Amino acid sequence: MMISEKLASSLSTQIGREYFAAIQYDMIAAYFERHALPELTALFRAQADEELVHAQKLLDYITEAGGIVEIPEIKKGLADFNTVEEAVHTAYQNEEAVTNSINELMDLAITQNDHLTRGMLQWFVDEQLEEMSLQSDLLTVIRRAGTDLHYVEQYVAKLPMTQKAVSIASRPE
Ligand SMILES: [Fe+2]
Ligand SMILES: [Fe+2]
Repeated sequence: MMISEKLASSLSTQIGREYFAAIQYDMIAAYFERHALPELTALFRAQADEELVHAQKLLDYITEAGGIVEIPEIKKGLADFNTVEEAVHTAYQNEEAVTNSINELMDLAITQNDHLTRGMLQWFVDEQLEEMSLQSDLLTVIRRAGTDLHYVEQYVAKLPMTQKAVSIASRPE
């Protein structure tokens, strides 16, 4: 086994957090869809898919390093929100929590002199910067927009990840 049991189990816990994020983002996307906001819907669908990729990445790594993958029970997410701001704030807070847990995993890998895991986790550290800045910019735009949700939709439509998501969605079978 190339990683310690403690690291394998902590990384497994992180898989649970990534699945939770995917579920939460799917529910946020459903909220936006209910409120006829297609761009925000597409963005959060794409974010949910990304979280599944994160979970898979961790799962593959643990397995490759000879560890046991034991995914914990996934907690229930929030299904409804009072405002668009509240929904995005939920996502932002979740990204904040994930950033903290990734940092703790990195601390553990450093303590154990596990250079392999450090290398793997660095990708997540960089990814968290991107995701935190996306959600934080989105919150700024929503607060600036006030009741003008069309303005928010236009902003989201111009984001590179939304355009990518749309092009994948409209790809012929
Ligand atoms: Fe993630
Ligand atoms: Fe994320």
